[in-house]
Amino acid sequence: MSELSSDHLLGIKYLNEADIELIFSTADNFKDVINRPIKKVPSLRDITIANLFFENSTRTRLSFELAEKRLSADVVNFSAASSSVKKGETLIDTVNNILAMKVDMVVMRHPNPGAGLFLSQHVDSRIVNAGDGAHEHPTQALLDAFSIRERLGAVSGKKVLIVGDILHSRVALSNIFCLQKLGAKVMVCGPPTLMPKYIQSLGVEVEFNLDKALAWCDVANMLRIQLERQDTRFFPSLREYSMLYGLTSDRLNRLDRKIIVMHPGPINRGVEITSEVADSEHSIILDQVENGVAIRMAVLYLLASKIERLA
Ligand code: CP
Repeated sequence: MSELSSDHLLGIKYLNEADIELIFSTADNFKDVINRPIKKVPSLRDITIANLFFENSTRTRLSFELAEKRLSADVVNFSAASSSVKKGETLIDTVNNILAMKVDMVVMRHPNPGAGLFLSQHVDSRIVNAGDGAHEHPTQALLDAFSIRERLGAVSGKKVLIVGDILHSRVALSNIFCLQKLGAKVMVCGPPTLMPKYIQSLGVEVEFNLDKALAWCDVANMLRIQLERQDTRFFPSLREYSMLYGLTSDRLNRLDRKIIVMHPGPINRGVEITSEVADSEHSIILDQVENGVAIRMAVLYLLASKIERLA
C-alpha cells in the first residue's frame, strides 16, 4: 500500500492497521533524514501549511512546524489568542479566509471534541487534528506506538499500561485505538473518579492499583492530570494522587524486570512521575519527542501526496 485510506488525519479511529504501518515505514525514512547533517528534503516544496492553535502547545506546535520546514513546505502560524477570533469571527470563516490565501493543508488544535471533523466537512482542505479537546490526539498516539516499536522491536503482543487521568485524556483514547489496531494489550489505571464509565466497552483491562498494574506491563505511559479540563475535584489532593498513582524509583525497583516509561508531556514532576524516573534509563520521553517530528513529516507527506494537483 502506498497511500493512506483517508484524506485527513482526524483520529486514529479512522485509520486501519495498513495506514499506521505505512506512516511508520515513511517515518523510518524521515527519521534517517532528520539525523543527517542536512536535515531537509524538497518533498513539500510549493505546499503551504497553516498551523492553527486554539489551545496552548509546546511539543505539538513546534514539532509540526519543524516537520513542515524539514519537508520544505511554506508555513504560516495562527494563534487564537492574537487573532480576529477574539472579535467574534467563526471557525469556518477564519479557516476559509486563511485558505483564500492559497493554503493547502491545515493542522489544528482546538478545545472542542470533533472540531477537526467539523472543519473537514465544511472547508476544502486537508485537515490534521493536532488534538481536539478530550477526544483524540492522533499524532501523539502514532509517535508513542512508533517509539515502542523502536525500543521493543514490535508493538504486537506488548503489554502497555496507561496511567492517570483517563477521563479527560485525548492521548489515552488515541493510544488505546492505535495500540489495539497494532495488536498490543492495553490496561488503564487511575482513580475510579478519573475513569470513564464506558471504559470497559473499549476492550481494555482496568486496574485501580498501580503496583499491580506495573507488575503486568512492558511499558507504562504516565499521563498528566488535565486540571484545565476539570470543573470539579476528582481526588482529594495532588499529594494523595502522587502517593497512589505517581511513578517513583521505589515502585520500579520492586518490579522483577525493567519496564519502559513514557510520558506525552508536559510533565508535572513530582505528581504523576518523579524527576528521578523521568530522567532515568527507563524513560524514553525525549525519544518520543524526537520521533514526533518524523511521524508528523510522514503524516504531512502522505496527506499532501493526495492533493490532486501534485498527483
Ligand atoms: N504532548 C503534547 O501534546 O504536548 P503539547 O501540549 O505541549 O503540544
